[in-house]
Parts: sequence; C-alpha cells; structure tokens
Amino acid sequence: MKDPEAFCQAAVRDLRDRIPGTAIVAASGGIDSTIAAVLAQQAIGERARAIFVDTGFLRQGELEAVAGYFARSGVHHRVVDASDRFLGELDGIADPEEKRRRIGRTFIRLFEEEAARAGTDRLVQGTIAPDWIESGGSGRDTIKTHHNVGGVPKDSALTLVEPLRDLYKDEVRLVAEHLKIPQADRQPFPGPGLAVRVVGPISRDRVALCRAANAIVEEEVEKAIARGALPRPWQYFAVLLPVRTVGVTGDNRIHGEAVSVRIVDSRDAMTATAVAPPPELLRRIAERITRERAGQIARVLYDVTDKPPATIEWE
Ligand code: XMP
Repeated sequence: MKDPEAFCQAAVRDLRDRIPGTAIVAASGGIDSTIAAVLAQQAIGERARAIFVDTGFLRQGELEAVAGYFARSGVHHRVVDASDRFLGELDGIADPEEKRRRIGRTFIRLFEEEAARAGTDRLVQGTIAPDWIESGGSGRDTIKTHHNVGGVPKDSALTLVEPLRDLYKDEVRLVAEHLKIPQADRQPFPGPGLAVRVVGPISRDRVALCRAANAIVEEEVEKAIARGALPRPWQYFAVLLPVRTVGVTGDNRIHGEAVSVRIVDSRDAMTATAVAPPPELLRRIAERITRERAGQIARVLYDVTDKPPATIEWE
C-alpha cells in the first residue's frame, strides 16, 4: 500500500459491495479494529454496528478508556456485557490452551447471536496480515486468530469481512493517520485478557484479585514514568500465581497467593527485555499489593526473564 487515500477509497467500495444489509463490527479498542469500524461506518453508515464485548477479563477502567478512545476516533459502539457468560465458561479451568479455546468459542457464539439479532451474517473485523500469516503454528497463534476471529469454524453462520487483511502494522499506522484516528494510548493487552494472567484455575475472585494487583502495577509505573524515574515500558502488568505462601500480618500467620510483576521493553513483541526498574518502584508496588490485599496476596515477585527464553505473557 503506497497511498492511504486510495486504499481507503477502495476499501470503502469493497465494503459496500460485500455488505448488502447490516454488519456487526468486532471492536476491541485496538487500532486495527478501530480502523475497520471507521471504514465500515464510512461505507454503510449506521448499518455498521460496532460491538465491544465485556468478557469479565478486562482491566480496571478499561470500559471507560475504550469508550473514550472510540469517541475520539468517531466510532459509534455498543457494549455487550458478557462477563457472566465468559466467567461461567471458564470457571475452574486451569489449562492455558483450554482457556483460549473456550474464550474463542464463546466470542464466536456471541458474535453469531449478535449478527442474527441484527439480521445479518456479516462480521467485520480488523485482522491484519501478520494475524493470519503467523497463525496455525503454536496453540496461542491458532487461538489468537480465533478471537481475532480469523479462525471462525467452518460450520459458523458468519461471513467475515476483513478490510485490513493485506496490511502490515506500519501501513495500518499510515491509514490511521490519514483517517485522523489517534494511536491507542494503551499498552498491548492480549485478547483473552486477564484470563491468561490468572495462572491456575479461573474464578471470579481470582480474576478480581489479579485486576486489583494489575491496577496497582499500572498506577505505580505510570506515576514513576511521570516523575521521570523510568522511560515508558512496552508492557507492565501483574500475574496471579496459584501458590500458597505464608505471610504475617500483625501477630497472625496467613496463607496467601503470590503476584509476579512483569515490566518489559520491546519493539515488536517478538523479543523483549525485562526492565530493571528502580528498587523504590518495586518496593512501593509490593507494599501496596500486600497491604491493600492483605490476607489474599502474601508475596510479590519480579520476573527478570527476557523473551526468549520466556514469553511476555506467562500463559
Ligand atoms: P507473548 O506472550 O507470546 O506475547 O510473548 C507477545 C505479545 O502478544 C500478546 N499476546 C496476545 N495477544 N491474544 C492476543 O491478542 C493472545 O492470546 C495473546 N497472547 C499474548 C502479549 O501481550 C504480547 O504483547
């Protein structure tokens, strides 16, 4: 793609041809699906129905942040609260691949129902070239496409419309600039969300615990960035570990779980370096998590592993 203007005109024409009636748009709050939503709106106006799914695995404040981003980008969307459904499907599941399979399946069923309700079978999504080129390899990639919904099963009633299918990330950025869509100001966040940051069995309580610890990590890292104590890292988050570990509060011994803090730098997520954060930042994070979640989290660890050999996410 050389000319974003020509690309957008062709994409809009193509979307009009391929969507005779209404279409639903799977909007995740990321830049790719936001561009897909904007192009769909330009092509078919209000017949494009963008949907943001609350899976129950979102971070603290995420719904509000995504709503703000859509507003700045001119995307009209509706939130579908499917948190009980996703939490129900994943309750007690500990195997990482099984978590991703169930999430992928639940997303697809949900989109099928939403499409039926809108009287269409067309699902617009922001799949880009690396999503399908890299898929089919490891389990994660297969499922990653699943809920980017590249991997819609053959028996699905959905017909995919993927206007950005041939673009690479740098081209996506050019199109975003052309359409005056701001770069999303959030760090990369996996589609399965906190489900893959709650190591071990999923439960409503453990997801809430992970969310609370993650919010503390984000807050403290952002404060440290603001006072110039470290440059903005690529990703920074908390992972809840299924470990029973001993702690003391006052005169009492307690058993709690452990949280691992991960802060990495990267250019493209293919490789990553564990950041060496200021000790004061780590101390503050550990102190807050163990105090604000006393009796639940007894220990905070810092993950010093690069990618490779580790991946960025734990699961
Ligand atoms: P890993 O853990 O493979 O992650 O080093 C590389 C980048 O991809 C994100 N990630 C995911 N994104 N679905 C996604 O959409 C997933 O299942 C998934 N797993 C990892 C991760 O946050 C990092 O930015």
